[in-house]
Amino acid sequence: MIASPLGDRLYSVMYAMIRRGGAMAEVDTTTENEPMLGKRETVRLLVRLLKPYRWQAVATLLLLMSDVIGMLYIPTELSAMVNAAISRQGADLGVHGARMLVAAIAGSGGCIASYYMASRLAANVGRDLRMAVYKKSLGLSVADFSRIGTGSMITRTMGDANVVQQTLMMSFVMLAPAPVACVVAIALSFATDWQMGVVLLFVTVMMLVVTALAIMRATPIFMRMQELVDAMNTRLRESITGVRVIRAFGRQRMDRERLDTTFEGYARSAIRVNYVFTLADSLTFFLMNGVEVLITWVGANRVGALAMQIGSISALVNYAMIVMFMMMMAQFALLQIPRARACLARAVEVLDLEPRVKDAPDAEKHHRKLTARTDETREVVRLDHVSFRFDDADEDTLCDLTFALRRGETTAVIGNTGSGKSTIAKLLLRLFDVTDGAILVDGYDLRSLPQREARAHVAYVPQQAWLFSGTIADNLRHGAPDATDEELWHALDVAQATFVRELPDGLASRVSQGGKNFSGGQRQRLAIARALVRKADLYVFDDSFSALDFKTDAALRHALKGELTDAATLLIAQRVSTIRDASQIVVLEEGRVVGIGTHDELMETCDAYREIEESQTRGGGVDE
Ligand SMILES: Nc1ncnc2c1ncn2[C@@H]1O[C@H](COP(=O)(O)OP(=O)(O)O)[C@@H](O)[C@H]1O
Ligand SMILES: [Mg+2]
Repeated sequence: MIASPLGDRLYSVMYAMIRRGGAMAEVDTTTENEPMLGKRETVRLLVRLLKPYRWQAVATLLLLMSDVIGMLYIPTELSAMVNAAISRQGADLGVHGARMLVAAIAGSGGCIASYYMASRLAANVGRDLRMAVYKKSLGLSVADFSRIGTGSMITRTMGDANVVQQTLMMSFVMLAPAPVACVVAIALSFATDWQMGVVLLFVTVMMLVVTALAIMRATPIFMRMQELVDAMNTRLRESITGVRVIRAFGRQRMDRERLDTTFEGYARSAIRVNYVFTLADSLTFFLMNGVEVLITWVGANRVGALAMQIGSISALVNYAMIVMFMMMMAQFALLQIPRARACLARAVEVLDLEPRVKDAPDAEKHHRKLTARTDETREVVRLDHVSFRFDDADEDTLCDLTFALRRGETTAVIGNTGSGKSTIAKLLLRLFDVTDGAILVDGYDLRSLPQREARAHVAYVPQQAWLFSGTIADNLRHGAPDATDEELWHALDVAQATFVRELPDGLASRVSQGGKNFSGGQRQRLAIARALVRKADLYVFDDSFSALDFKTDAALRHALKGELTDAATLLIAQRVSTIRDASQIVVLEEGRVVGIGTHDELMETCDAYREIEESQTRGGGVDE
């Protein structure tokens, strides 16, 4: 008949193609499979995320309604026009035409506006979720982080939020209009003729069945593909990072076979899921054609029986096509929902995590007292019978440590690898809380101070020097944003980082992520300079000298001596030569203090220290 819905059908075909392509592209966001949390928390989070945008959401839905109703109203008016033309009521044609124009404008206007609003809304919610997880992660302690894993944390901030964002968008523009379209189309059909209403009801139910079957078959395959993507990611990361080891041990073939199985599994699942869709789509297209025949046939009889007019047949065919098209879209959105739920649940897991290290309620009060007192005492930090045990360890890493760090003095800690030296530094920064005893800052328990303030008094050079991507100047100003260029150059000189002067761009030289474009020793010295730029009461150098040659080590120590006269210094080292001049040396053995004193005193009294010293002078200074 007139106005065969060819356009719509072409649209659906195109859509189905996109969707089938999408079936594979959609899944490659990394999400690890973890136990799902309760439904209630997930819904609570979604409500919390949507709450600020509730009016926007309502407006979006209203605009979508306008789109759907406009879309359905056009064929209604068109058929009325045809009926009017056949019954030769020429004057009405213009009215119908005008109404169609209004419907078209309302429909496409609603469509454009609702897509725009839905994508804005989804993007805002995605940003809020990303921000919430990120902010939370900043407040988490090292222990919390290792509970979740850094990789998973990144996935949760980026990938998961993207899935939620995408699903929200799809739920709005693809899922929400479907039921409305079905109800309105059925109602319009019944209004035309009750038999045609039954036909449309039948079409809708058939499409519901096809949709339900497709979803039921495809969802588990999708979930399985998700697991396989995770497996591929893990395996690939392992093979790529470990490629030298794999080559060195001649394991290429095994590795390839291992990857092959995973790739194969993924390919098979992808084929199966596409098979399901192909079946669902061909069934839908078959239904479309069948329905057109059915409507024309039943319609012709009804027209013959004078129950309805001939022009209405094209409207009914159009209603049926719109219903089917909407249901196909809804199918796509429905498939996304289980994944989005899993992603939301993972976000909830992070957001509900109670940080291990947190500020005491009255922390700010202590801070004020602390700033009032800081300059009076010589003792900056005192460790008072400190013991510490990691969550997952069965014995104490540090046991009953007692010593003080004083202004203008260097305290050195020496001991074998694994004796707990770095752990002391981490406790001073309150990356972990002590298990027993207390760390006293100016007489106040570290745990009673605000974390930010407690750390502001410390300049720390970690054992693994980490630089941020940016310029050298950016990195040096990390702890002191207002430092002048002169101060930066001075710190670089003290840190023996003279190589910076030879770089063509000087302070503006580029640093790649992690500082990978510098050697280990250069990175170390930049990290030392970064700490020196910052004015602090306590400087902690965690094994910062081990990557330096003896001459640079000596020059650096010499330069430091004049530099840190107002502050306490904690120097963690493995070489006796590095710490020989320290005011106080703490000898650590398996987390216990086995000697405290100056070099000379320890040479007299401490067997462990003498052994270290002798092994190093004999071996010519063993180095890690
Ligand atoms: N995050 C952690 N979880 C559990 N154990 C840890 C952790 N970090 C370090 N350890 C353990 O604590 C001990 C001391 O580590 P560390 O302080 O780094 O030693 P050092 O710096 O003296 O080489 C080691 O035995 C190490 O295995
Ligand atoms: Mg260490």
